Amino acid sequence: MRPLSSSSSIASPTVVVIFGAAGDLTKRKLIPALFNLELQNLLPDQIAMVGFDRVAMDSKSYRQSLASDISSFVGNGFKQQLWDENVEKIYYMPGDFRDPDSYQKLKTLLKQVDHEQGTPGNYLFYLATPPSFFGIIASELARSGLNEEAEGQWRRIIIEKPFGHDLESAIELNTRLHKSFQEHQIYRIDHYLGKETVQNMMAYRFGNGTVEPIWNHRYVDHVQITVAESIGIEDRASYYEEAGALRDMIANHLLAVLSIVAMEPPNSFDADAIRDEQTKVLKAIEPFTPQRVLTDTVRGQYGEAVSDNGQHVHAYRDEPGVASDSTTETYVSLRLKINSWRWAGVPFYLRTGKRMHKRYSEVVIQYKHAPNMMFRGALERHKNIEPDRLVLRIQPNEGISMQFNAKVPGTEFKMSQVLMDFDYDDYFEESNTASGYETLIYDCLCGDATLFKRADNIEVCWEFLQPILDVWKSLPPRDFPNYPAGSYGPEEADELLARDGFHWKNQ
Ligand code: BG6
Repeated sequence: MRPLSSSSSIASPTVVVIFGAAGDLTKRKLIPALFNLELQNLLPDQIAMVGFDRVAMDSKSYRQSLASDISSFVGNGFKQQLWDENVEKIYYMPGDFRDPDSYQKLKTLLKQVDHEQGTPGNYLFYLATPPSFFGIIASELARSGLNEEAEGQWRRIIIEKPFGHDLESAIELNTRLHKSFQEHQIYRIDHYLGKETVQNMMAYRFGNGTVEPIWNHRYVDHVQITVAESIGIEDRASYYEEAGALRDMIANHLLAVLSIVAMEPPNSFDADAIRDEQTKVLKAIEPFTPQRVLTDTVRGQYGEAVSDNGQHVHAYRDEPGVASDSTTETYVSLRLKINSWRWAGVPFYLRTGKRMHKRYSEVVIQYKHAPNMMFRGALERHKNIEPDRLVLRIQPNEGISMQFNAKVPGTEFKMSQVLMDFDYDDYFEESNTASGYETLIYDCLCGDATLFKRADNIEVCWEFLQPILDVWKSLPPRDFPNYPAGSYGPEEADELLARDGFHWKNQ
């Protein structure tokens, strides 16, 4: 993984082909990410983008459709002049994902683009389509020969999430992809791995001598990973009804964060060394028995509520496109055990939900109390004294804070919690408005797969989740909706921690 900064080297000359170019992800994330890379001078002059989708349009109207929104999706850093200088590098080709002829036409267009833009035949295929097309597009690319690498010419394919919807479909998709592309050409994306703080967790853990010695069961009491969202499902009902929070968030983003928090130090900063350790720790998660699914998982769905500013918020079941008796979960919390030397006996609690109180993602490492509390007196009188907590904030306000106990000034010996806070913005000039996609697209252009998922990593996640999917399917929830929009989630999720004597650290 290369650090993204103005001193990073320029990516290889490439044509980026986006399948699903007329979709939301392309407009909101991918084009803005390419723009931001250009803004940071990380793209070469010989770079072009070809949009491929089912919508009938030509390049000119495609450019116009992007131009109307780009400034709002890029935000403050948008520079009209830079857009105008580069817009001619964007092409569009209408086509059918299933039609072999469309791929022949794409091949011809790519030759033309290479000729016009001076690109040397390196192609990055970005699959931003509904998942049902992933396998088909890969096979058709192979059938047309567009998967074939030659001396000095590479071909790579980025697969968006969700990668499968259960263990069987994930294995099937991996098998199908491997028939068309070799593993080194396949980049399975999880944009959480591109987020600054997620990468900074590695820097924090393995770049400092003081952290690792206390990063284990001897000192850590428990770990909480929260990815809370205040938004609902927006206009994605047809996808979300099938997916739910377990597939949409836990299967990828939360398990990816967990793997970085819990993995052993890799031997080197090399893609496979890191991914070996991530896979190893995910394999060490104790499998769920049906009984443990009942006791150690909580699912929820939001109901209607009135927000703080008096606005009525719809229940999930009242969202357009959602069944009025939907049993899709919009909230999940899990209690996990990792059977490793390092983490024996340390519970890990994961939670994520839509329409929660506010948007924030963080990892909380709660340390054990001091072994001998010589300030016991102070503790008894002030029972609210909490153990030390390290909080790694992923978003917003990226940073790291340590909460510990200090003496309150004065003659009486009282203790109180204080906070040592590191905020990215205070230390680094580089603004961090990136979504995660910038780093990942750049890494892929440079051939660095560190932050992408390997086939075995994906499969091990589904293997772990499969018993939960099975039990939940056979026992549909009877209490949905069970949390009001704008809250911290269902009460059972609080009970999950309360049983162990803990509570969620809410913001
Ligand atoms: C996506 C999920 O992968 O991640 C969405 O499909 C979710 O449902 C999004 O809203 C969250 O990403 P971020 O970067 O906004 O935290």
